[in-house]
Amino acid sequence: MSNQQLRITKPDDWHLHLRDGDMLKTVIADTARCFARAIVMPNLKPPVTTVAEAEAYRRRILAAVPEGMTFDPLMTLYLTKNTSPDEIRRAKASDAIYAVKVYPAGATTNSENGVRDLNKVDAVLETMQEVDLPLLLHGEVTDREIDVFDREAVFIERHLQQINTRFPALRTVLEHVTTQDAVDYVLEASERVAATITVHHLLLNRNAIFEGGLRPHHYCLPLLKRETHRQALVKAATSGDPKFFLGTDSAPHPKNAKESGCGCAGIYSAPVAIELYAEVFADADALDRLEGFASFHGPDFYGLPRNDDRITLEAQAWSVPELIRTGSDEILPLRAGTDVAWRLI
Ligand code: DOR
Ligand code: ZN
Repeated sequence: MSNQQLRITKPDDWHLHLRDGDMLKTVIADTARCFARAIVMPNLKPPVTTVAEAEAYRRRILAAVPEGMTFDPLMTLYLTKNTSPDEIRRAKASDAIYAVKVYPAGATTNSENGVRDLNKVDAVLETMQEVDLPLLLHGEVTDREIDVFDREAVFIERHLQQINTRFPALRTVLEHVTTQDAVDYVLEASERVAATITVHHLLLNRNAIFEGGLRPHHYCLPLLKRETHRQALVKAATSGDPKFFLGTDSAPHPKNAKESGCGCAGIYSAPVAIELYAEVFADADALDRLEGFASFHGPDFYGLPRNDDRITLEAQAWSVPELIRTGSDEILPLRAGTDVAWRLI
């Protein structure tokens, strides 16, 4: 008997870290092999804050795409307290830029230049609403007194509700949602509010950070949450609701930067991403809904055409490499050295 196959419209990744330099050259193929487009995060060092920088970064990405592969990077701007409404208008006019990213200062990797006071960026949000440029949110508060596992829920309560009330027409993506609270909020909000879901938050609960010892390769932000939250994410992703779509948050760091006294947050899932989403959807008996989540809901939300190409996945186990080399560094992908049940043909 031959293995089960699934043929779907080529997916896109609506939240991706590609980095720069040698790292970019190494990781780009892992995304381009199965995703036609990706919303590219701007948290480089220094961050991508202007249209000119985003366009230059886009050219570096395109130059790194291997011969014979196609890939369309959809660029974003990193919002700082100095971002002007004029820059937003220029971003809208540029055909390279598709969204603006807000990192609360201190929330995650390279977020030092992020926003310290969300009440002080009204003019920019107003302009984004007016020109219809989507807002992408790392939705976590950073207050020291708020427990790290509660930061997403508190962000929704303190900030997201207000943003969505004050700027009702602003398209907003709550990125990498991790909790039942976030799912519930997005479901109740207007159709201008959506969420991306990573494959690691669908697969793992917070026990994975501490399984038999400290597991730095399962450290990401927002943190993995308890099992009930993971189940809420699986339910949302596999529900067929167009408010939820694929965003890997694949975020490579050198192995030694993760296996450190103060390790970096980020899980490198690109080499196994679409295969693992297939695993999650198969386990939930919802393979027929993978195409909507991976290939339709994202472009529909952004008002972009769906892809014409298709990919085929097959229910056949394969073994993920132990390590990926980049320049003088090594990166450990999610599931390194273990089996994945689905493969891309
Ligand atoms: O785990 C994460 N890694 N979360 C983020 O928000 C940023 C990312 C990175 O850039 O490494
Ligand atoms: Zn991210």
